[in-house]
Amino acid sequence: MVKTTKFGTYRQFILESEELRVSVMELGATVTGVDYRGKRVGLGYESAEDYLTHDAYLGAIVGRFANRIGGGSFPLNGRRVELPRNEGANTLHGGPDSWDRRVWQGHIEGESVLFTLVSPAGDNGFPGRLTAAVRYTVTGGALRIDFEGDADADTVFAPTSHMYFNLRGTGSVLDTHMRIPARGVLEVDEALIPTGRVLPAEGAFDFSGLRPVGQNYDHAFVLDGSRACEAVCGGVRLTLDTDFPALQFYTGAFLGEPFGENGGFAVEPEFYPDAPNHPDFPSALLRAGEHFRRYAVYSFSDAE
Ligand code: GAL
Repeated sequence: MVKTTKFGTYRQFILESEELRVSVMELGATVTGVDYRGKRVGLGYESAEDYLTHDAYLGAIVGRFANRIGGGSFPLNGRRVELPRNEGANTLHGGPDSWDRRVWQGHIEGESVLFTLVSPAGDNGFPGRLTAAVRYTVTGGALRIDFEGDADADTVFAPTSHMYFNLRGTGSVLDTHMRIPARGVLEVDEALIPTGRVLPAEGAFDFSGLRPVGQNYDHAFVLDGSRACEAVCGGVRLTLDTDFPALQFYTGAFLGEPFGENGGFAVEPEFYPDAPNHPDFPSALLRAGEHFRRYAVYSFSDAE
């Protein structure tokens, strides 16, 4: 069932099944809360204002390019595209005028909510007029997100959902048990820009079996199939399935009160960071007339 409400001045939609309640507002097409069997496991701020004063991208759809583009520029069709930089020399999460501050158009379509955003040519430096569509659907214990996009000129497109989770509901997430079936982890420099090397997921990066997180992460794992991760804590299991090629696992956010540091972890289905500067990474190129389509499914169940 889908209902319409308000969150501050923004339209908000509530998607509900017996197990799951997900609220999504038109600002940033942001998930403002996920409750599993009455417990808040997907984090959200108290007020709409909080979303405008923090920069954790909490629950938002990030675009046009999630994660970093090194040097804030990339080659495209024989010329260089220059982007505004918002993290030192680099462009993070689509740049300074980020999509989490945009008001999307939301419509109920059956059991789904469909959000669309028209990003004009040159938006934050990115070529082409891009129409992005993000569909949220709740079925049983699962929240599915479908990402689509169409552009009128060649460009890059690499959105993500930037939800943070705390499966106990409160406290640190460092004792959450995590499994990430990865083929490797991207080596990065001190600014978190990939060097191009894929390292084996060993030692601190070995999440081949469920084990406590234990320390902070802000790393891109190269996925090995559609199961991106499994997380267990507080009697709740979250699994994430996706056809994106990588997963950014991020625990270090200071989300502000009342969450504190390590109060949530983000598992972001993504293209590889800085893909447009690495011809050997899976391509984030979206050609004019081509249709972009990717999905992510977050499934919640009881864990012993
Ligand atoms: C993550 C990113 C972090 C940080 C965060 C937003 O996706 O990897 O370094 O920027 O978003 O607070």
